[in-house]
Amino acid sequence: MSDSGTSGGLTTIGAGNNDAPWDFFDSKEYFEHNYGHLRDDDRQIIKIVTDFFVHCFDRTVPQKQLASAIDVGSGTNLYPALAMLPFSSSVTLYEHSYTNRQWLSDQLGRPKPSWKREFWPVIAGARGPYRKINDPLDLLASCAEVTKGNIFELRPNQYNLGTMFFVAESITTRVDEFRRATLRFVNSLRPGAPYAAAFMCRSQGYFVGSTFFPACSISVDDVRSCLAPVARIRDIETVESHGLRDGYEGMIVATGWKK
Ligand SMILES: C[S@@+](CC[C@H](N)C(=O)[O-])C[C@H]1O[C@@H](n2cnc3c(N)ncnc32)[C@H](O)[C@@H]1O
Repeated sequence: MSDSGTSGGLTTIGAGNNDAPWDFFDSKEYFEHNYGHLRDDDRQIIKIVTDFFVHCFDRTVPQKQLASAIDVGSGTNLYPALAMLPFSSSVTLYEHSYTNRQWLSDQLGRPKPSWKREFWPVIAGARGPYRKINDPLDLLASCAEVTKGNIFELRPNQYNLGTMFFVAESITTRVDEFRRATLRFVNSLRPGAPYAAAFMCRSQGYFVGSTFFPACSISVDDVRSCLAPVARIRDIETVESHGLRDGYEGMIVATGWKK
C-alpha cells in the first residue's frame, strides 16, 4: 500500500498505480464485459467525441498538421482510436499491461465483430470524414502501433491528437496520481492539440474477472480543476450509465485543447 496524504483538499489513501497487478489484467473478460456489445453510455460518449473531432478538424486544424495521435491506456477499447482515425496518420496505442498489449496486437489482425458491426456505424454516423473510410479496422491496423508505456513517463509535446478513456482515475486510489496522470496525458500533446478524455464518476474500484483494480473517486469538479491549468476546456459532460457494475455514478467526458 502507498503512503497517505492530501492533494487539492482530497485525502489520498490506499493502493497506488504500482500496487495493482496490471500484467494479469484479464483482457478477454474486460472486453466481453465492456465492449462485446455497444451500450448506450458508450453510444453517447462516441457522439460527444466524434462531434468534437469533426468540429476541430473542419474548422481549426489543417489536416496536414496531423501526424500522430495517441490513445493512452487503451486496454481492450478500440473506439477512441477509431474515433481519431480520419484525422491521424499514426495512432499509438500506449499501454502498460502486458496482457492488454497482447490483446491489442491480436485485435489489430483479427478484430472482434462488435467493432465493425456495432461501434463503427455509430462512430461514422452521418459524419463526412468517417464515412469516407471503407474498412476502418484495416486502416487502423495499418496505422496503429501498440506501444509499451507508463503514463507517468509520457514525454511532453509529442502528439497532435489524444484520447484517454477511463485511465487516470481507474489506475490508482491516489488523488495525487490521478492528477499527475491527467497532467501527463495532456502534456504529451503539442500546444493546441485536441483531446478527449473519459472518466468514471465516483468510482470505488472494479473487478476484472476475480481481480480487483483500484480507482480514485473523482467528480466533474476534480476533472475541471485538474485540466484547467494545462488545457483549454471546451466542455465537460456527464453521461448516465447504469448496470455496468456496482460502485460508480456515471461517466464524465472532457473535450478541449492543450494550452
Ligand atoms: C480501466 S482500464 C481502461 C481501458 C480502456 N481505455 C477503456 O476505455 O476501457 C485502465 C487501463 O489503464 C492501463 N494502465 C494502468 N496503469 C497504467 C500506466 N501506469 N500507464 C499506462 N496505462 C496504464 C491498464 O492496463 C488498463 O488498460
